[in-house]
Amino acid sequence: MEHKISVLISEEEVDAKIRQLGEQISKEYEGEAVHLVCILKGSVFITCELAKRITVPVTMDFMSISSYGDGTKSSGVVKLAKDLDETIEGKNVIVVEDIIDSGRTLSYLLPVLRERKPKSLKLLAFLDKPDRRVKEVPVDYTGFEIPDEFVVGYGLDYAQKYRNLPYVGIVEV
Ligand code: IMP
Ligand code: MG
Repeated sequence: MEHKISVLISEEEVDAKIRQLGEQISKEYEGEAVHLVCILKGSVFITCELAKRITVPVTMDFMSISSYGDGTKSSGVVKLAKDLDETIEGKNVIVVEDIIDSGRTLSYLLPVLRERKPKSLKLLAFLDKPDRRVKEVPVDYTGFEIPDEFVVGYGLDYAQKYRNLPYVGIVEV
């Protein structure tokens, strides 16, 4: 079934924001390297585009963690499905998340990563739905704050579909 999707954030707006975040990160980490931790699968698009806009040395690793089932409602259950391949000890880690909704996923994950003794640990959220927050999460870099709507595109899915849209849209269900 196809859904009707209306554009919330255009491709141009997304590109400009990623460029701006890349410049900001490059400035703040001048003389250092950054290690991007991409939370699969939703953050793949933003992580790759962001990495291209960072001018200090970049390494990347991937982990899969989820509090969601297949629909649009949070299950409240957080599980670690795939761990990182490399150590983060002594590294300047930036966790890249597609969207912070209830905050449950990241409030579980950040302490787990902090225990592994990175040199620094920051969080970048491409999208943030502050109205939906159940658990407090410290966000260091935000792409866009959005209203309480279910969105797709730029990595975000509805039942695994629409991740490939080059913009962020609201799906009418
Ligand atoms: P949290 O643990 O409630 O903050 O949930 C974060 C995760 O829920 C994200 O990484 C997404 O996978 C998923 N999610 C939350 N809101 C949306 C949405 O509007 N569209 C697609 N996925 C979403
Ligand atoms: Mg996710």
